[in-house]
Amino acid sequence: MKQPGLFITLEGIDGTGKSTQHRLLVQYLRKLGHRLRATREPGGTRVGERIRGILLDLSTKRLAPMAELALIYAARAQHLEEVVRPSLGRGETVVSDRYNDASLAYQGYGRKLGVETVRAFDQIVCGDTQPDLTIVLDLDPRIALARAQGRETRRNSRRGRFEAQGRQFHARVRAGYLAIARQEPSRVKVVRADRPIAEVQAEIRRLVDDFLERESEVGSRGATSR
Ligand code: TYD
Repeated sequence: MKQPGLFITLEGIDGTGKSTQHRLLVQYLRKLGHRLRATREPGGTRVGERIRGILLDLSTKRLAPMAELALIYAARAQHLEEVVRPSLGRGETVVSDRYNDASLAYQGYGRKLGVETVRAFDQIVCGDTQPDLTIVLDLDPRIALARAQGRETRRNSRRGRFEAQGRQFHARVRAGYLAIARQEPSRVKVVRADRPIAEVQAEIRRLVDDFLERESEVGSRGATSR
């Protein structure tokens, strides 16, 4: 059964500025007075953060794509049980930096495991806990990877396993996200990320405002028909 809270996810290839946009969106919704739970994947729980370490660490050699997918869904199962479902059940708005569309795009398309395989995991682990609104930040992988590398140089950090995959991998992931958006246009909105941070954020806020307005209309219709 659908839980009372709203579930919003942010997606996109590495280097689209997703985490910054996530932070700004969370600030905005808090100011509007939403009871809000900000979270991220892979991670969001102690177990999930440990799994994230295995997934992102370049020293993890020879991780089979199917093992990668299973680890991601293990982290997601933990995240759902500890964070997402309890928050939605309390009527909170959950805003997650990545969720299950990342698995379709990265493992289904990027790793070529296929959409059917990912959906099979998804049905078992996520069931009907699906996002209500998903924002995909879209950017040419050449620009995105250069940005991600710049960030690492600034922070003196190393590339993660996915960022190290190169342009063709990220081009497949991007194509995956765009395919999902074409299949589910009412849930998934694509935002061009080759613009200043404030402009991208303004468009995200417009999309979120429209979504919240639709939801409140549906909610009030539901209340009067009862
Ligand atoms: P992210 O937190 O966006 O990385 P960063 O904080 O370094 O920008 O995501 C970590 C990586 O995990 C990212 O490269 C994509 C990958 N990932 C998948 O491959 N499948 C998934 O289902 C998820 C949630 C993430």
